[in-house]
Formats: sequence, C-alpha cells, structure tokens
Amino acid sequence: MASVLVLYAHPAPHKSRINRRLAAAAREVEGVTFRDLYELYPDFVIDVEEEQKLLKEHDVIVLQHPFYWYSAPALVKEYLDLVLTYGWAYGEGGAALQGKILLQSISAGGSEEVYCSQGRNRFTIRQLLAPFDQTACLCGLRYLAPHIIHGANQLTDAASIQPFALRYVRLLKALRDQTLPLELAAAAEKINDLIPA
Ligand SMILES: Cc1cc2nc3c(=O)[nH]c(=O)nc-3n(C[C@H](O)[C@H](O)[C@H](O)COP(=O)(O)O)c2cc1C
Repeated sequence: MASVLVLYAHPAPHKSRINRRLAAAAREVEGVTFRDLYELYPDFVIDVEEEQKLLKEHDVIVLQHPFYWYSAPALVKEYLDLVLTYGWAYGEGGAALQGKILLQSISAGGSEEVYCSQGRNRFTIRQLLAPFDQTACLCGLRYLAPHIIHGANQLTDAASIQPFALRYVRLLKALRDQTLPLELAAAAEKINDLIPA
C-alpha cells in the first residue's frame, strides 16, 4: 500500500460547494493523511520543517484545489515556494521527493469544451498545469494527469456533487492500493477515465 497525502487548498471553504464535499470524503479514506492548508496557515506562515517531514513520509501527494486564474490558489504557490527548497527537493543533494507521485484534483468553472486549442481558454487544463508538471519533474516526482471536475458552478446541490466525491474517493483508494495504470495516467489529459469503477 502507498501512503497518500492530500493537501487541500481553498481560500473560501465556507463558500465552496464542490471541494468541501470532496475534502470531507477524502478525510475519511483509510491510509490518507488529509491537510487543509488554508486552515493550517491562514496567515501564509508555513511550517516548512513539518511540511517537508510529511512530504517525505508519503508516497503520493495530491494537491486538491479549485482552478483559479488557470492555476491554483495563492497558498499552493507559497507552499511550493517555501517547502521545495534547494538541496532538499532539487539541486545538489536535493533528492527528498525522488520517485514519489504528484497529481492535482481540480474543479473548474469552465466546461471541457472551452479547454482546447479551438475553445475560449485556448489550452487544455493539463497544458495550463505545465508549471506543476515541470516542478514535479525537476524534483524527481512522477506527475500524473489531473483529476478534473468541469462545469463546477453548475453543480449546486449535494446530489449532483455526490458522484464526483465518490469518484474522488475511488481515485484516492486506487492511488493507495497502487491499482492505477501509471504509464497511462502520466500520459493522459486527465485521469478521470482511468479511475476504477
Ligand atoms: C478567483 C477565481 C478564479 C477562478 N478562475 C477560474 C479559471 O481560471 N478557470 C475556471 O474554469 N474556473 C475558474 N474559477 C471558477 C472556480 O474554479 C469554481 O468556482 C470552483 O472550482 C468551484 O469549486 P468550489 O465549489 O469548491 O468553490 C475561478 C473562481 C474564482 C473565485
């Protein structure tokens, strides 16, 4: 079994419809360590030592967040800036994360159709996440295709969100139980279709 660390980042959790339900479901999955970054660090003062210790202890790291301005909420960037230090995560002697897995679980307001070369947003979400992909690569992490929930703002009630929460739980369990086809998951646009039913 792999140990899974979920780093949840939502700057307005009380307003969240999707992520707060996915987060609640993720917290209950056995073998998953769940961290709510905005709850832990409302003032952005990140405990780097503690976060590095947790990253080191886990095999799989999941960044769960809404898609904000084609990227992640600000605390995720701050986390990466502070925690992935030279000589620890990358550079000379920096091998702490080698061989681990990183993926993102994202909810996006936009539909799948607008995220393509002909669409309004011009790029796929996977393409827009290139800085995360390359950060993972530099640190020796294996970056998997993101788990994406499109049309997030149309999903307003618990019943319509529930299937996505269940799919997310299946994803976390598959990561934990190492049952995902990793080659395919690394190459795909999104991991959604590779999650066991
Ligand atoms: C500041 C901000 C920026 C956003 N940027 C994007 C974006 O770039 N692309 C997109 O598809 N949706 C964008 N959205 C919509 C959010 O992704 C959507 O509201 C969120 O995923 C819903 O999840 P939640 O219910 O957990 O908040 C943005 C929303 C906010 C508030």
